Amino acid sequence: MAKSKSVYFCQNCGNQSSKWLGKCPACGEWNTFVEEVVSKADDRKTGLKEDHKKAKPLAIREISFEKEERMDTHNKELNRVLGGGLVPGSIVLLGGEPGIGKSTLLLQMALHMKGSKILYVSGEESGRQLKMRADRLGIQNDDCLILNETFTGEIFRHIGDISPDLVVIDSIQTLYTDMLESSAGSISQIRETAAELQRFAKSSNIPVMLIGHITKDGNLAGPKLLEHMVDTVLHFEGDRHYGFRIIRSVKNRFGSTSELGIFEMQSGGLREVNNPSEILLSHRKEAVSGVAIAAMIEGQRPMLIETQALVGQSAYGTPQRSSTGFDLRRMNMLLAVLEKRSGLKVSAKDVFLNIAGGIRVDDPAIDLAVAAAVLSSTTDNPISNNMCFAGELGLSGEIRAVSRVESRISEAEKLGFEKIMIPKFNLKGLNSKQFNIEMVPVSSIGEVIALLIN
Ligand code: TYD
Ligand code: MG
Repeated sequence: MAKSKSVYFCQNCGNQSSKWLGKCPACGEWNTFVEEVVSKADDRKTGLKEDHKKAKPLAIREISFEKEERMDTHNKELNRVLGGGLVPGSIVLLGGEPGIGKSTLLLQMALHMKGSKILYVSGEESGRQLKMRADRLGIQNDDCLILNETFTGEIFRHIGDISPDLVVIDSIQTLYTDMLESSAGSISQIRETAAELQRFAKSSNIPVMLIGHITKDGNLAGPKLLEHMVDTVLHFEGDRHYGFRIIRSVKNRFGSTSELGIFEMQSGGLREVNNPSEILLSHRKEAVSGVAIAAMIEGQRPMLIETQALVGQSAYGTPQRSSTGFDLRRMNMLLAVLEKRSGLKVSAKDVFLNIAGGIRVDDPAIDLAVAAAVLSSTTDNPISNNMCFAGELGLSGEIRAVSRVESRISEAEKLGFEKIMIPKFNLKGLNSKQFNIEMVPVSSIGEVIALLIN
C-alpha cells in the first residue's frame, strides 16, 4: 500500500509545494495554495496503452512530413480561429465562463460534421439533456456518439472500440484517473487527465477538443495550467446578456492568434456571423453626437464598428472615466493628447466610451474614431453617418499610418460609406483611382478638429 502523500498546489498556476504558502512564488497570487492527496499508484493500469517507441535524434531535413491534412469542422468561424481546420493529433482547449455556450458550440459542430465519426464525452450532462439540446439545434447525425463517462480508463477503452476521428471532452474538470487519489476537478487530476489525453492525441493522431471552465474571478483550477499542455487555446467570450459570442485564439501552434470567430446565440443554436459589420453598425437614419465609425482589422478581417463616447460635466471633484471594449489607459492618453494639442477641455469632464457589440478592440487604428467620437460629444456636433475613420493618434497629436489601409477602404466602400478619413502617410503608394469612396487625408489632430467642427 503506497503511503498517501499530500502536496500543496497553487490553484492559479499549478505550482507545487511541499508545505502551505501564503503567496505563490511562481505567479505572485495570494491564498491560492490548497492541499491535495496525490499518492501516485504507478503500478495500476490506466486504460491508455503506451507503446513507448525509442526516439532518435534527427536533422530537420530527415524528418518525414506530408502536407498536413486539416479536418474541416464545417464551421467557417471555428475553422478561421483554428487556422484553417483541426490538425490531426492536436489538442484544442476551449475555455469560457459557465453558460457562455461551449457545449452548444461543440455539440453543434459535432453534429454538423457528417461523415466523420465523433465521440462526444460528456461528464456534465446526461444523455437526455444532450438529446434535448440536439433537438433544439435541429440536426440529426448518427456518426456522432455520446458517452456519459468521467473515468479516463473507460473513455480510452471506448475510444479503442469505436476508433473515432475526433474526440470531444465536456469538460476536463469532470474527468478523473485512477492514477491519483485526489478528487475530480482538482489541479493534480486536471493535470494528469490532460496529460493522458495529450499522449493519446500524439500517439494516435486523433484530434481532441477539451472544454475547460473559468469562473469570473478565475479561481477554479484549470485552464491557466492547461494552456501550457495543449496546442491551441480558444477563449469563448461575450456578455451572456448580449447575443454575440466571440472566439479568440490565445495560443495556436498551427496558426495565427489574431483571428476572431464571431457567433450569435439564437434559439436554434449558434449562428456564424461571416459579415460582422452587419451587426456592429446600428444603421441609424440620423446622425447623433458622440458616435464615430471605425474601420478596423481583427486578424485578417476588416470590419466596421461603432465607437460611442459620452462626455459630460463632472458632478464630483474627480471626473469619472470608463471604457468598455477599449483600453482605459489608452483612452486617458488620447484624452490628454486632445487636451494638450487642441485645447479641448476634457480634463474636468466625465468620459464614457463604449465599443458596440461587446467586442474588445486592440487595433490602434481605432484611435481616430475614438478621438472623433469624444470631439463630437464634447462639442455636441454629430458626425455624418456616411463617414468612417482609420488612424492611429501619436502623443504629439500626429495621425500615424495604419496597416493594410486598402482593405479598410474597400470594406468601407462595400458597406456604402461615402467618406473615409485616413492618415496622410497612407496615401503614399495607394492607388486611389481604384476606389469610388472619397478619402479625407489628415496628418494632425488639429486638422481633424477643423474638418469635423465647423
Ligand atoms: P451551454 O452550451 O450549456 O453553455 P456552457 O457549456 O458554456 O456552460 O449554453 C448555455 C446557454 O445557451 C443557455 O443559457 C441556453 C443558451 N442556448 C440558446 O440560447 N440557444 C440554443 O439553441 C441552445 C442549445 C442554448
Ligand atoms: Mg456545458
